[in-house]
Amino acid sequence: MNRVMLVLIGLLSVALLSGVAMADKGKDSKFSTEEIMKKAMKGGLVAKVAKGEASEEDQKLVVEMLESLAKNPPHKGSEESWKEKTAALLAAAQGAVEGKKGADAKLKKAMNCKSCHDEHK
Ligand code: HEC
Repeated sequence: MNRVMLVLIGLLSVALLSGVAMADKGKDSKFSTEEIMKKAMKGGLVAKVAKGEASEEDQKLVVEMLESLAKNPPHKGSEESWKEKTAALLAAAQGAVEGKKGADAKLKKAMNCKSCHDEHK
């Protein structure tokens, strides 16, 4: 019985540890939320896309990063609100990359740092 308990405790701690390490990175997501924030948000790549100033390479990277962001679990706050915000960001960025009319304005609105941080950071 003791051995079973030990194994269970062992398994549980492994699960907890890996859960913490992967907290802000979804299963088939390529980038962690932290990486995306540093590069795409604070680094200004998303802003460049919104202004139509990003190179093709940067456009691809931004779309890839926002795809990952949508797959990542929210750091905190409700899953629903996170899905809504990240999906809006991704759709607006894709639209801006494709040159859709009004997508740049949508992207500027969707990349609102404070409204997302207040709820999810
Ligand atoms: C869709 C939601 C969302 C938007 C929009 C957003 N952020 Fe974040 N940001 C987050 C979350 C969630 C975290 C917490 C990540 C963590 O701790 O793993 C975060 C963390 C950060 C961090 C800290 C990263 C680190 O080193 O851990 C920076 C810097 C940051 N955001 C910058 C920005 C800037 C600048 C903008 C606006 C241009 C922005 N973010 C827009 C969700 C968002």
